Amino acid sequence: MINLAAICNPSEYNVNPISVIDANFLQPVKIVDVCVQQKKWLIHFSTSEVYGRTLASYLGDVDYSNPELYELDEDSTPLIMGPIGNQRWSYATSKQLMERYIFGRHKEAGLPFTTIRPLNFFGPKMDFIPGRDGEGVPRVLACFMTALLDGQPMQLVDGGMARRTIVSIHDAIRAIVLMINNREWSVNQIFNVGNRHNEVTMKELAELMREAYAECTSDATHLKHPIVNVSGLEFYGEGYEDCDRRMPNLTKAKDLLGWEPTRSLKETLLETVTYYYDQYRDWPKTQRGAAVTQA
Ligand SMILES: NC(=O)c1ccc[n+]([C@@H]2O[C@H](COP(=O)([O-])OP(=O)(O)OC[C@H]3O[C@@H](n4cnc5c(N)ncnc54)[C@H](O)[C@@H]3O)[C@@H](O)[C@H]2O)c1
Repeated sequence: MINLAAICNPSEYNVNPISVIDANFLQPVKIVDVCVQQKKWLIHFSTSEVYGRTLASYLGDVDYSNPELYELDEDSTPLIMGPIGNQRWSYATSKQLMERYIFGRHKEAGLPFTTIRPLNFFGPKMDFIPGRDGEGVPRVLACFMTALLDGQPMQLVDGGMARRTIVSIHDAIRAIVLMINNREWSVNQIFNVGNRHNEVTMKELAELMREAYAECTSDATHLKHPIVNVSGLEFYGEGYEDCDRRMPNLTKAKDLLGWEPTRSLKETLLETVTYYYDQYRDWPKTQRGAAVTQA
């Protein structure tokens, strides 16, 4: 059983926390229980959000000189969430409790499981473009893309200083297929799936995406596409807080599965931006070019 279903859009976490908790914890409990009854191997998609904020971010002046304070290891890094009033953590805490439920069922009832913590899979077909084939606020990739397609400013929440690592969907799928085909190595493990080499701030991501857009449209004016700042409160409303950085330790996936990501950020963004441009170029422009810093 492979469970990918989730509400995993940051624009929902503050405003619809009950739906987020239902989709990411209460509903999947039933899937886990069926797997226990039927003695099935469950491959469950969790999230790197379960790590919360880094230790470094709580130590005053953020200092990333010590990897022990920010590197994310599947089996040893503490999972640090903000206060209850910051409902932004509804997603991360539901996913974390789900992981704990799966692990508990493994220990008590012998459930075979594999938990995957994706770190920003990027590629064609992710999310939707508001006003074309969906409504609402999608994740950062489609938000920036909407702004580029609409000729609207790309909006950076709180200056776009949050850092994320981006992994190509092709690398991610290769990791998942390796897990499925090598049960003896992937069973009863938690895996980070990300790319340490593709780290950017959200501000850098906006700049790189407009470069890719200029390249795929052969129009250099897009290099100057406007990027503006917006506060987290303004964009997400009450209860917003961001994870500062997500740098995965990937040694487990390499040692057990022989997996390493190979695709660079530049090629991943060019492929993705070109896909969206080809797909949506003939649609009329809308006024919705909004974008977020969170992924
Ligand atoms: N894509 C990423 O970079 C990323 C990062 C972290 C975690 N994840 C996790 O990986 C999984 C897949 O992510 P994705 O990017 O494909 O998300 P997605 O939003 O594209 O797909 C999730 C799908 O689940 C559906 N869904 C929600 N609740 C459901 C329910 N009760 N029953 C049936 N379907 C339901 C949604 O409608 C949606 O189509 C999710 O568990 C997500 O939390 C993905």
